[in-house]
Amino acid sequence: MITAPPGKPMPEGAAELRRLARQIATDPSAWTPELASLVAGLFEQLAPAWDTEHATGRLDFLADALARGGPLPCGICLELGSGTGQHTPHLADAFDHVIAVDLARKMLRRAPAHLAPRLQADAARLPLAAGSIAAVVLVDALLFPAEITRVLAVGGVLIWANQLGADGPLFLDTPTVIGALGGAWSAVQAEAGWGSWAVLRRARTP
Ligand SMILES: C[S@@+](CC[C@H](N)C(=O)[O-])C[C@H]1O[C@@H](n2cnc3c(N)ncnc32)[C@H](O)[C@@H]1O
Repeated sequence: MITAPPGKPMPEGAAELRRLARQIATDPSAWTPELASLVAGLFEQLAPAWDTEHATGRLDFLADALARGGPLPCGICLELGSGTGQHTPHLADAFDHVIAVDLARKMLRRAPAHLAPRLQADAARLPLAAGSIAAVVLVDALLFPAEITRVLAVGGVLIWANQLGADGPLFLDTPTVIGALGGAWSAVQAEAGWGSWAVLRRARTP
């Protein structure tokens, strides 16, 4: 068990953002072109100061998920909402191939290109073939269930992690994530430091 150190930041407006994140996860019509453009613009602005002013600097929750979340599949890991690539090195250690996907070009430009090819794309409309991905990882990212279930192979895993756990601005609890995805999944979850994670495994038989 990884205990939470003192000084956990509590972001302003988190409850409202969680409501929006839940709406986007449960109602495909909530993600409009206008909202996509607003979100992209926001993160383009935040990009220069992301690593120094917004990132928590904590990586323990993801290390815990990768170590204790069960066997990881072979194949491509898709990191959605990868931002400046704070977590990409951990994923590059754990998986053979990682693709980093983000909506905001300026976030993506800061990410480590030598560890993972960077793809500017909307996670709601991925330019990837159905069933081509072994693992999807979201760290403090928006959940777009239809695209995840389309690109994720049967037997694949989804890692859902929030650096500030239930206090995080995009946190959804595991039953909500599974309900939004639909279909049959098994899950293991834990809290780790300030954060929380769940590794969801897609059932081989529907
Ligand atoms: C809260 S930040 C987290 C970034 C990174 N995962 C981290 O933990 O440092 C959310 C990221 O998701 C990206 N994002 C938001 N909506 C997205 C979408 N529809 N498709 C892809 N990326 C998106 C943002 O541009 C931003 O970089």
